[in-house]
Amino acid sequence: MIRLIGILVGLGFTSAVLWAFGVGAYTFATEPAEETAEHAFHLHPKDVSFPSDGPFGKFDRRELQRGYQVYKEVCAACHGLHLVAFRDLEALGYSEAQVKAAAAEWTVPGIDPNTGEATTRPGVPTDYFPSPYANDTAARAANNNAIPPDLSLITKARHDGGAYLYSLLTGYSEMPAEMAAEFPEFSTPTGLYFNRYFPNLNLAMPPPLSEGQVTYADGTEATVEQMSKDVSAFLIWAAEPTLEKRLQTGWAVIGFLLFATVLAWFAKQQVWAPLKPKKKA
Ligand code: HEC
Repeated sequence: MIRLIGILVGLGFTSAVLWAFGVGAYTFATEPAEETAEHAFHLHPKDVSFPSDGPFGKFDRRELQRGYQVYKEVCAACHGLHLVAFRDLEALGYSEAQVKAAAAEWTVPGIDPNTGEATTRPGVPTDYFPSPYANDTAARAANNNAIPPDLSLITKARHDGGAYLYSLLTGYSEMPAEMAAEFPEFSTPTGLYFNRYFPNLNLAMPPPLSEGQVTYADGTEATVEQMSKDVSAFLIWAAEPTLEKRLQTGWAVIGFLLFATVLAWFAKQQVWAPLKPKKKA
């Protein structure tokens, strides 16, 4: 009897699950979701590659230095980099003295030793990049109620980080005519900017880069594409400064494991050799 009840209860659950699945599948097939402008016109990141891509990735120091310049002269007005310290810049190929000088170009919060009051002072290599706003409220007040996110980990926080960043920075445009025709009710709210690489097509960041905005020390022409690529490479580095070391260690470990596998195979042959059945003559 108990057994029969058990079977019936099981059957009941199974039918409930099957029924739910059937109804879901039927609805999916017969009532397609309404097409939205975001869905139809959002673009995936452009196909762009960085020297740090792939299992043999390396950083291009000159590119990173140019990227740092773009960050410093453009992005730092709105975005912090609170997980990166000035001394980390030595990894970009700067000497200790150059890092000291670079740190001193920034102003960081400090305490006046004589009065104990909050003040500011030039940065030293052990300081971290200062945030441009005192807090989130100040950040919102200056940016149409949006907070410019800290960029320390942004290339990890977005799918296909480097390519997404590059696409976003080079992706501002007018709304395409066919989109205006297809979705007449869709318009960019005042204070936002149209960008097909941003998931909902409008973001609060004004196009930050324009041709020739920085003057590169190495004479590279500062096109919007060039600056976007450089600053994206710099932010890939900022999010994972140990990338090269990690890849090198990975290859060394794989090599060692292969070697150990071969040794283990020979050892096994040797250990079992005496127990092998003798071949009949
Ligand atoms: C005038 C201020 C300002 C400047 C300059 C600026 N940004 Fe922004 N940025 C913003 C604001 C505001 C947002 C938030 C946008 C939103 O959420 O709608 C933002 C968002 C972003 C995002 C996040 C997008 C996302 O997917 O959420 C990235 C990445 C970014 N900015 C990169 C940069 C880079 C790189 C530079 C320098 C080339 C730069 N920004 C310069 C204000 C600025």
